[in-house]
Amino acid sequence: MASMQTQPSAARYPAGALAFPHRDLIGIGQLQRHEILFLLDEAEQWVVLNRQTNKREDLLGGLTIINAFFENSTRTLLSFEIAGKRLGADVVNMHAAQSSVKKGETLIDTAITLNAMRADAIVIRHGSSGATQLIADKVDCPVLNAGDGQHEHPTQALLDALALRHSLQERGEKATDFTGLKIVICGDIKHSRVARSNLLCLQALGATVRLCAPPALMPDGIEAMGAEVFHDFDRALQGADVVMMLRLQSERMNGQFIPSEREYHHLYGLTRKRFENAAADALVMHPGPMNRGVEIDSEVADMIDRSIITRQVEMGVAIRMAALDVLTRRTRGVDGWENAR
Ligand code: CP
Repeated sequence: MASMQTQPSAARYPAGALAFPHRDLIGIGQLQRHEILFLLDEAEQWVVLNRQTNKREDLLGGLTIINAFFENSTRTLLSFEIAGKRLGADVVNMHAAQSSVKKGETLIDTAITLNAMRADAIVIRHGSSGATQLIADKVDCPVLNAGDGQHEHPTQALLDALALRHSLQERGEKATDFTGLKIVICGDIKHSRVARSNLLCLQALGATVRLCAPPALMPDGIEAMGAEVFHDFDRALQGADVVMMLRLQSERMNGQFIPSEREYHHLYGLTRKRFENAAADALVMHPGPMNRGVEIDSEVADMIDRSIITRQVEMGVAIRMAALDVLTRRTRGVDGWENAR
């Protein structure tokens, strides 16, 4: 593992600037490096709380949070719900399949309806890129993007960064950022909002990001975002410190992008043998849900000392608690947060 850069925390935030001057969390692309670090640092207190028997802190008492999910989810929906409840908010989940969306109601009319119920924060997952911003433009409360089409999944990238930071620190590296790390993201990059948010987040924190996919699953012009592009997975893995595997997003594929899952696994599946190309202490990540035997083999996914996949899930609750806390500070009249738009 490459050596890490350390910085005293006070030096990381610009003097006099509001630590997080945004009303909404739409994407990592809207955030500066110090704002990402601020959210990671804020989440640390919630990691501690979540490991206690009493996981309740009544910070958001009286507030109503609506989780409006227009796509399936296990991790993101549950962790936003747990996050809101642990902070004392009333949390309501709207599943599109049981909503009036099925009767033809538009996204904007749905947003106006949720707004009229005086939600204090709305968490949205939607299949269309840009849907979250569209809703944010129509409502009066903070909006948090829980994944919009192929655009962004910002809390996923933040929880990934927090999980990685914890894992590095556990090894005795006083990591505050990822300078010097070589991180491979391999899989269906073309359809992945997780890849996009992670590319932005990991680069902002100093990592070198290698993207690896078959040509048909690599977005055109992605090099312009500063990534190193690979189509040969074994080459991409050479000396990598972290390997993040992504599933094939068949629900977003319009046509045939790979000849077969078997062939895909042969070229791009993370097997134990292939993993030996990475650094000797390389870590494995996956945002889930995993398709074992396709993009990752169980014997790698379940490696006790190298896989941090369950830690990613753990950090998801803490990051979402931090995001809900920070974004509702203006509503709650927390000192110094009146400028957050
Ligand atoms: N990683 C992720 O977004 O998982 P879910 O689809 O289960 O929320």
